[in-house]
Amino acid sequence: MVAVIGRSGAGKSTLLHVMNGSTPATGGQILYHGYKSHGHEGNGRDILCSNARQWRQWRSEYGMIFQDFCLVPRLDVLTNVLLGRLNHTSTVKFFFKIFSDEDRTRAITLLQWLGLLPQALQRAENLSGGQMQRVAICRALMQNPQLLLADEPVASLDPKNTQRIMEVLRQISENGITVMINLHSIELVRQYCTRAIGIAQGEILFDGPPDRLDESLLRRLYGDEMETLH
Ligand SMILES: Nc1ncnc2c1ncn2[C@@H]1O[C@H](COP(=O)(O)OP(=O)(O)O)[C@@H](O)[C@H]1O
Ligand SMILES: [Mg+2]
Repeated sequence: MVAVIGRSGAGKSTLLHVMNGSTPATGGQILYHGYKSHGHEGNGRDILCSNARQWRQWRSEYGMIFQDFCLVPRLDVLTNVLLGRLNHTSTVKFFFKIFSDEDRTRAITLLQWLGLLPQALQRAENLSGGQMQRVAICRALMQNPQLLLADEPVASLDPKNTQRIMEVLRQISENGITVMINLHSIELVRQYCTRAIGIAQGEILFDGPPDRLDESLLRRLYGDEMETLH
């Protein structure tokens, strides 16, 4: 479970948007399974060099959740979750809401896992924030991603729902899915994450276990924003 931390404007969201292709990169590489460590050359690929087919493939390998959940408010919960299969469903089928039984079963299993089965046929707009984020997590998991990208997923939740969502994300990471999460709370980073990457002005200032984040490093990462940290 990897936290990306840094003051606002550091580029945390931009990093995720470059990774998911919604913001074009002007340079650099995104090495997938290509991380060089322990003296081994990674043998992964550079996402930025993908052709159209490889981008589609990449899109099915990550799921994404956001601070404001990004559900379709007037659609019911189940359909919102099924939208996670959009990459694999033709537009016509989607228009008529034709999903396979397999997809429906998976959606229902996910909703059940997160305690949302009673809400399955309710409109998304009638849920609480914590429930909405759980629906968004189900949607992100629909395509069996290997990577879950989360942009400040608990920033608009109360403490109780924050803990619940963080617990769910931890469980997901323990099931073998890498969770990469932009977080503003250092306490949550220490409590849940196994690796933290601190960025400032486009540079990596820190990459290591969260318990090595000391006061002077946090000061360099956050500057005058330190006072707003918790
Ligand atoms: N490495 C970068 N290259 C280009 N623009 C960047 C970079 N880092 C940040 N920015 C710009 O800075 C602004 C804030 O970035 P953002 O990703 O929203 O920050 P954060 O999510 O950390 O608050 C955005 O307008 C973004 O385009
Ligand atoms: Mg951001």
